[in-house]
Amino acid sequence: MSAQLHESVLHFSAHPLLWVLARLARRAGLLWKVPGLGVMVSDAECAREILRRDRDFSKNGTGSFAQAMTAALGPMALGNMDGDDHRCLRTAIADVLAPARADMLVRCRGGDLASMCARLARGDCVDLVHFTRGWSGRIAFDVVGIAPPVTQEEEACHEIVRLSERLASVLGFRDPSRRQARIALADRERLAAYFREGYERSALPSSLADRLQTLGFTFDEAVGLLLIYIIGGTLTISAALPRIIALLVDSGAFAQLRKDPTGIPRAIDEGLRFITPLPGTVRIVQRDTIVQGHRLTAGTRLVILTHNLARDEKLFPDPDRFDITRMHNPRAARLWYGAGPHRCAGFNLAQRELKAALSAMVGVGREFRVVKRRASIGALIPAYARLVIQALPDS
Ligand code: HEM
Repeated sequence: MSAQLHESVLHFSAHPLLWVLARLARRAGLLWKVPGLGVMVSDAECAREILRRDRDFSKNGTGSFAQAMTAALGPMALGNMDGDDHRCLRTAIADVLAPARADMLVRCRGGDLASMCARLARGDCVDLVHFTRGWSGRIAFDVVGIAPPVTQEEEACHEIVRLSERLASVLGFRDPSRRQARIALADRERLAAYFREGYERSALPSSLADRLQTLGFTFDEAVGLLLIYIIGGTLTISAALPRIIALLVDSGAFAQLRKDPTGIPRAIDEGLRFITPLPGTVRIVQRDTIVQGHRLTAGTRLVILTHNLARDEKLFPDPDRFDITRMHNPRAARLWYGAGPHRCAGFNLAQRELKAALSAMVGVGREFRVVKRRASIGALIPAYARLVIQALPDS
């Protein structure tokens, strides 16, 4: 099966209907109205303008993701906030993941990467999904600044990813059923319990919890924000890293990278473009307005198909080709991290995590083969549930 086909299986396994609609939307053109769903946006320039004009296109409104997010995480979770409240909070916590701190966070967990690569170098099979979930879970504890229980550290790192995944699964177009809402509430409490006690007693200096306390937030006020960093920080990376590695191996590009490791940053850009971990987002039109010559009416739900934006031919010639030597158009500005005021708050960390992991794996000095893979079914972020790889003998 080709690299592209494996990727399609992941999308289809996560969101079968949306995946088919997204494929049709790509053919239909820039903006495509789907009754009952909203207007699907596949054009990069339109999308960027919409994401930047946050006063005209808000996160909240009927049919938004923000409603489900508020029900699951509470009102203060960044991704469900608009306007000045959102801007003020983003500014107040911006340095929690500033470049130098993100460097430090990834460096601190370099030992985990080194042991995983040592296993690969010995010829062991490694489930990259299992590894990345534990690793990103550990870094998420560090971001928040509260340590996992000493006696069950590894289990806790995996548990917060499992709970994040279940909580994220209720974020969608449809309101969760009563049963789903009840389960989500219980999961939220179990996730929050990992941080509740440490929030006031032992938050590390300069961490997210430390900053929120300094700003005067009680745990119950801060919890939604802590949880969105846990969810955002674990689910994206544990989907992205295995998918990028699979792509590199399936397409033969891993060999290219071994010959020229200076190409790693570009391979990350192209890998993220190709997989777009968050395949879409939603905005609600606040007032009748025009975007790039298109009229949009108040109340319309806009489904921004990030996956399609990353395949916009005007920015990426031959967009379905995975090419790690591709020079990315600066106008594309890594649209897979979003744009405007809601652009990914974890960008600095995510880029460094991916770079550290890819560099470590290239450093093993061997080619890899995929021994086993299984797609995750019904996940918010298309992902492998399992991706077992093994180094090939030195040729
Ligand atoms: C490759 C990895 C990642 C990708 C592709 C990604 C993508 C995105 C995108 C597209 C958005 C904006 C969604 C929208 O506009 O509706 C976003 C928001 C966000 N991301 Fe990430 N993300 C990644 C990693 C991370 C990490 C590692 C963290 C935290 C440690 C994180 C935390 C957040 C938060 C808190 C927001 C909400 C920002 C706001 O609404 O102001 N993300 N991310």
